[in-house]
Amino acid sequence: MIRIIRTRDYDSLSRKAADIIASQIKVKPDSVLGLATGTSPMGIYDDLAQRYTSGTLDFARIRTVNLDEYVGLGATDEHSYRYFMNLHLFDRVNIDKNNTHIPDGLAADLDKEAYAYDELIQSLGGIDLQLLGIGRNGHIGFNEPADHFEKSTHVVDLARSTIEANSRLFDSSADVPKQAVTMGIGAIMQARSILLIASGRDKADIIKEAFCGNITPEVPASILQLHPDLTIVGDEDALSAMGAGDADLFCA
Ligand code: F6R
Repeated sequence: MIRIIRTRDYDSLSRKAADIIASQIKVKPDSVLGLATGTSPMGIYDDLAQRYTSGTLDFARIRTVNLDEYVGLGATDEHSYRYFMNLHLFDRVNIDKNNTHIPDGLAADLDKEAYAYDELIQSLGGIDLQLLGIGRNGHIGFNEPADHFEKSTHVVDLARSTIEANSRLFDSSADVPKQAVTMGIGAIMQARSILLIASGRDKADIIKEAFCGNITPEVPASILQLHPDLTIVGDEDALSAMGAGDADLFCA
């Protein structure tokens, strides 16, 4: 079932998504959370950090697995996703860093690292709640448009459109790493619930294509139509190409 939550703007999107994550943490204090980086979840992480500071949320037993990491960037590189997660969430709450997992983009043997990441997710008992953003090309994690869905964690050549989109966070597109290690579609789809967030008009077309169009590896997020527990929280702009708002009218 796809649940659609339409919010006025980015702040209310962040609050709503943080509500869902906070509920998960309260119901299961040792939850395994699948986490995303990028611009979209920043407001959620701010909100969750504030809830921790005000004493309403406890991360002491939470475990996390992130979706992806750039190849060649280590934890101290400010463009790495480990750095991002420490800055935006982990250093602001009482999570045990030993319980936070992100693929190692500096691993000498990246295929081995990818294999070990799937083993790790299994050993944690799978993901309770997976947070996802969506790329303008329909990627989730760094599962780029392709002719098949890649099930396992793997090394991926980033699409030119992804490199261009992400160059806003680097000095130039030449500085954006060309590869990443990403969780595959298998672990994402096996998550017990999925929360996908989208903000801004530049996501409107891909949201419509992914959730109203055909299920195809050319639009990786489209596979989520088959997930039994998917919630999409989008602001007015991101959902502007869609129907009126509830699941039935969504694709009208
Ligand atoms: C990030 C990730 C990506 C982003 C996507 C959207 O860990 O896996 O799939 O979620 O590129 O990024 P933003 O939120 O910056 O638009």
